[in-house]
Amino acid sequence: MPLGSEHVVVTRLPLRDEDDRPVGAIGFVLYERVDGLKPVLAKMQQLQARLQAAERELADNRRARYSLAAFLGMSAPANEIKRQARRAAQLDATVLLSGETGTGKELLAHAIHHASPRAARPFVSINAAAIPESLLEAELFGVAPGAYTGADRRGRDGKFKLADGGTLFLDEVGDMPMALQPKLLRVLQEQEIEPLGANRLLRLDVRVIAASSFDLAGRVAEGRFRADLYYRLAVLALQLPPLRARLDDLPLLVERLLEDIGARLGQGIDIDADALALLRQHHWPGNVRELRNTLERALLQSDSAQLCAAHVAAALPARLQATVLAPDAPAVPGLPAEPQAGPRPAPAVQPLAQAVLAAERQAIAAALQAHGGSKVATARALGISRAALYQKLAAHGMS
Ligand SMILES: Nc1ncnc2c1ncn2[C@@H]1O[C@H](COP(=O)(O)OP(=O)(O)OP(=O)(O)O)[C@@H](O)[C@H]1O
Ligand SMILES: [Mg+2]
Repeated sequence: MPLGSEHVVVTRLPLRDEDDRPVGAIGFVLYERVDGLKPVLAKMQQLQARLQAAERELADNRRARYSLAAFLGMSAPANEIKRQARRAAQLDATVLLSGETGTGKELLAHAIHHASPRAARPFVSINAAAIPESLLEAELFGVAPGAYTGADRRGRDGKFKLADGGTLFLDEVGDMPMALQPKLLRVLQEQEIEPLGANRLLRLDVRVIAASSFDLAGRVAEGRFRADLYYRLAVLALQLPPLRARLDDLPLLVERLLEDIGARLGQGIDIDADALALLRQHHWPGNVRELRNTLERALLQSDSAQLCAAHVAAALPARLQATVLAPDAPAVPGLPAEPQAGPRPAPAVQPLAQAVLAAERQAIAAALQAHGGSKVATARALGISRAALYQKLAAHGMS
């Protein structure tokens, strides 16, 4: 620190009690021969700047990223869900967002926080399916100082504590292990947490928004989710409509998604009416996320910034292409006719690594579908850990 025109080096040693709480400090001031320490001082300033940058970034991550305006759609189902979200924002009750994968649950959770009186406070997310069961409790509730030896000796705040005053987004809450559910229920009822290894309760003020991409009530019926926790979470239950139930929103969604994709590529992208008509025929199991991926893939098929039906057909999954291209299927305007006639083309030869990846992707997609989107069941069926499944899903861009 500067002292007049001189620099002195000050160090403080904290004195702690058995619980690792600071009770005092001893300070040392070194004011002679500081010159030799200049490189150390410079290094320290550099580290301090980096720490500040990291802290700013962390604070940014804890802010809600989307407002309700980001939830696109003007159809009746879209307007209804936005109305419910606006109402949920004004109330402080727990919210349960249900809906298929890619319907915008996470987007809506951000938006509800953003429109709520807690907007200026943190928005913290945790995905119950992405964290190994053994670590989830510590992640949620934190660890008291001294609870473990080693790296965690000083203790660590859990997500509930980090969200104090704000909102905690509990994603994939259906994958919450049975053993942790009573503890979660107690937090929701009492607004108190007990960090691991602490004998004290910590009072908190956290609003919880939970999300599930499969039918949570069904899980309750199967005995895999506690009924009392379900009712406590579903005080305000919002059901997000699948894309196929709001096809009127398709043109608007396509326009905005293409604007967004185009802005990143630095060019405007157009799509013609036949291509849009083809998009309307798809079932959209992956909803808006799948729509975005499909448009991006279609663009790879096109040499220009103009998307037509053939590009879209090539970007849609094989089953739909097969029905579209089968001779007895109604002709889709703008599609090339070649695939309907002539000998079957030989299967494409591709590098082995690519073929293996494609097979992996297919196996994951099939397992996900067979298990109603449950990551836990899917990972088990595939014989890999949940964390490994999440890594693979991310690597394949499958959410
Ligand atoms: N109504 C919408 N308007 C605009 N974009 C949307 C809408 N719904 C979803 N999206 C976009 O689709 C993608 C997936 O949305 P999000 O992550 O919120 O879905 P999710 O329901 O949480 O899916 P999952 O269950 O797979 O986690 C995001 O890129 C999001 O911005
Ligand atoms: Mg999500």
